[in-house]
Amino acid sequence: MAKVSVIGAGNVGASCVEAMLHLNFCSEIVLLDIKEGLSEGKAMDMMQASKQYGSNTQIIGVTNDYSKTADSDVVIITSGIPRKPGMTREELIGVNAKIVTGVSESVLKYSPKAVIMVIANPMDPMTYLTLKKNNLPKTQVVGMGGQLDSSRFTYYLAQALNCPMSDVECMVIGGHGDTTMIPLIRFATYKGIPVTKILSKEECDKVVADTMVGGATLTKLLGTSAWYAPGMSAASMAKSIVMNERRVFPCCCLLEGEYGQEDLCIGVPAILGKGGWEKVIELELDEQEKELFRKSADATRKTADILKETGILS
Ligand code: NAI
Ligand code: 2OP
Repeated sequence: MAKVSVIGAGNVGASCVEAMLHLNFCSEIVLLDIKEGLSEGKAMDMMQASKQYGSNTQIIGVTNDYSKTADSDVVIITSGIPRKPGMTREELIGVNAKIVTGVSESVLKYSPKAVIMVIANPMDPMTYLTLKKNNLPKTQVVGMGGQLDSSRFTYYLAQALNCPMSDVECMVIGGHGDTTMIPLIRFATYKGIPVTKILSKEECDKVVADTMVGGATLTKLLGTSAWYAPGMSAASMAKSIVMNERRVFPCCCLLEGEYGQEDLCIGVPAILGKGGWEKVIELELDEQEKELFRKSADATRKTADILKETGILS
């Protein structure tokens, strides 16, 4: 059984811990926040529900004490400010870069071999920052965004098809941004049948558009960004890593030639197992999809470049 630490005990961090309790694959989960009492309180509350989840996982809440995170197999970084209605994920870069830099250094001091999963936004540049600032092997750092966007794609497809979500298979690649993500409608299936053979072009276009603004739709409704699907997406990815399930997730990896891109962290399908991401899977994209990926890569790189322009990364 594994040890996972979650940094940031806010909406996403706490939901992720709860989802891991459901999935029941950890012996110990450490929840850490800077706000005194927050993680202690949430950890105690979840521990008191634990028996009813059928779980014996120990959840330990701590304020800023990184020594308690020592020897984690996976560390999930959710610490960072979320967007408010009308804001893009990209606007969070300045504040969150400072938080993610400090947190990743502290985490690695006690768990130098842990797989680091980055969630704080803008997630693709934050993944790049974590990797480069700490000089880590590329497979040790992965970002969570594509799995969440794919869950939203699944939801909108199931609604359009009027079918259970379990019968839908689909994937979103590219950047984790309203205009940069690429819901791959041509690859989406309903029990193995391409959805493009069932839904009209207009219906497909609407599903893609709804998916792309899926996060913004929720932010408008909630006044802050969503947490249940983000928490469960991160928990499923952590499980695949620590249990060496080797499942394929659309997630943010450093590309070195794959999809025609160099030195860029962006969403692609990858196998997640022991040690982090094992292999990027190269899909056979058509010309239109390749062009969308190129544009997404350019925009994602532009945001990541802010880290260099502002001296956060040299
Ligand atoms: P939140 O505000 O509910 O929680 C953030 C927590 O981080 C707070 O409790 C805060 O005290 C803590 N924190 C701040 N600085 C810290 C530090 N230096 N050390 C430890 N803890 C610290 O926000 P929420 O909704 O949980 O979102 C967290 C981040 O995740 C945001 O940046 C948000 O945009 C991002 N996000 C990313 C998603 C993705 O798919 N990649 C999905 C949803 C949210
Ligand atoms: C989301 O997609 C804001 O990244 C966050 O909900």
